[in-house]
Amino acid sequence: MDDVARVREKIDIVSLIQEYIPLKKMGRNFKALCPFHSEKSPSFVVSPERQIWHCFGGCSKGGDCFTFLMEYENLEFIEALRILAKKAGIELKTSGFQAGLSSKKDKIYILNNKALEFYHFVLTKHNVGKRALSYLINDRKIDLRLIETFMIGFSPKSSNALSNYLINKKGYKKEDLIEAGLAFYKGNDIADFFRERIMFPLSDHRNNVVGFSGRTIDDKAFGGKYINTRDTIVYHKGSMFFGLNKAYEDIKKKDHAIVVEGEFDVISMFKEGIKNTVAVKGTALTEDQARLLSRFTQNVSLCFDQDEAGYSATKRSLAVLEKEGFNITVIEITSGKDADEAIKNDPISFKKAIKESVGIYDYLLSRLLSLHNKNTIEGKKKIADELLPAISRIENEIVKEHYLKKLSVELDTSHESLTKQLERIEKKEVIGENAAFVKVNKSSRREILEEYLLALVIQDERVKSVFEKSVEALKDYMFETPSYKKILDNLSEYFKKHDLFDSKKFLSVLPLELVKIFDTCFLFPLPKFLDNAIYEEEVEKVARELRMIFLKNKIKATSLNLKNQEKEKHTKEIESLEKEVSMLIHLLSRP
Ligand code: CTP
Ligand code: MN
Repeated sequence: MDDVARVREKIDIVSLIQEYIPLKKMGRNFKALCPFHSEKSPSFVVSPERQIWHCFGGCSKGGDCFTFLMEYENLEFIEALRILAKKAGIELKTSGFQAGLSSKKDKIYILNNKALEFYHFVLTKHNVGKRALSYLINDRKIDLRLIETFMIGFSPKSSNALSNYLINKKGYKKEDLIEAGLAFYKGNDIADFFRERIMFPLSDHRNNVVGFSGRTIDDKAFGGKYINTRDTIVYHKGSMFFGLNKAYEDIKKKDHAIVVEGEFDVISMFKEGIKNTVAVKGTALTEDQARLLSRFTQNVSLCFDQDEAGYSATKRSLAVLEKEGFNITVIEITSGKDADEAIKNDPISFKKAIKESVGIYDYLLSRLLSLHNKNTIEGKKKIADELLPAISRIENEIVKEHYLKKLSVELDTSHESLTKQLERIEKKEVIGENAAFVKVNKSSRREILEEYLLALVIQDERVKSVFEKSVEALKDYMFETPSYKKILDNLSEYFKKHDLFDSKKFLSVLPLELVKIFDTCFLFPLPKFLDNAIYEEEVEKVARELRMIFLKNKIKATSLNLKNQEKEKHTKEIESLEKEVSMLIHLLSRP
């Protein structure tokens, strides 16, 4: 056995996944809300027997223990293998897997760390960094201790200070710097990406330096106030937070996260002891970020800038957070344009604002009431148009009802008309949502039912008796989908020799090309059945419906044939076809 197989053998996929998300036993399998896409009902299934997982919802991802860890922790295969080998107490033999040889990502992390040390040295020790250091300490009130904590740095003005250092002193190649996003090609040579900027290292929560953001010290300087590392294999702006590596333990402890816009907001709050803060870096929260945050807490307070952009980011983040089931509040800033200014101007009232953060819907309502005149028709319409879509997304029905009532009182509009308007909005959204879930490759109801029936058969504890029940109910019905038919045929052969169903044994005789299809049916999420009798009723119902579809198709074909024969006046054929149709119709009415 090779290393990979040995590790896979030792790791139990159910307990592995349970370390990350709660799993619920359902029949032979375990179910959960999929951690890789937003959903309201669980379609993420784990099979202890097959040691695999699959999402039957929007993302349709799946695999084994390695792929789960790779997806969940955003790792390369080798990284996942190393972690799981360690967990299983297995020493990796294959030379390529040994610790000394690091993956492509590790290489970038190490390189970024070298760059971080360089920038930090320039800021704190070198003449070139003097002006930036004084800007941080005097203008922004960021002392040396904070500069150390966040490992802030400075990139010199010259076009290749960092490149020269990394290439000449540390032996890196040009391509390495390009790959990490630290430099770019300029003619035949390369140039530093960041020049004359205060450098904030961007780290993931495991402290890997994934990139940098650089702020000018000269507001009239060329380029934007902030620039960030371009997308690389380790850095995607919308998938990380600034400050999460410093904040996640506090977030877990307080079971609460504060989301702000920028680096300075995080650092100034950290200085005041508010350490459960992360920054989205000037945009609305993305689904990736919401999912990442949900690993540490379900309670979020948004504290965006006091401007139109901040308000719009709050609204857009709300939709994303609500989908992930967060409790959301808003911290209202009164003593400055953003959290950084507010906490510097008046730390006491800022801390009070955190304690008194308002529910997001109250915040939206009070803001809309201050913007529009609720006593005019136009005002009423504007307020309702803005707020109802947000209310419609509230997951909890009691909370939803609460805000509907509140809105109805404020606008002096009947509860019924608001509910009607809400239903209109919900209808629109549901249609859009379902359309996205329609499986494009499932052609007919017949194919869907065949898959469902097969799943019902092989997932039950008493496979053999359910199999026999379904054969009985199907009568002369023949499965139309070749792969499902083949699996059923194999099952029938299998039960000639065995009384108990053992998926391992069965799979050892099942043709290889059918294994994937078997697995899909084996994991396919089934509804909950109260007892065996109801389960069997369902099996019979599905089998009967399949037979009905089959009969109806046959009747249709025969009738068509009959019509043609009538045209041709073939009396003999007409007679036999008429008999056949009436026989089929008779079967149809007598299930
Ligand atoms: N930002 C970014 N990329 C940009 C612009 C902004 O990543 N091109 C992020 C930065 O993290 C910044 C945040 O968005 O901190 C907020 O931007 P902005 O409001 O423009 O910056 P300020 O908070 O005013 O920045 P500062 O306090 O440094 O003046
Ligand atoms: Mn700001």
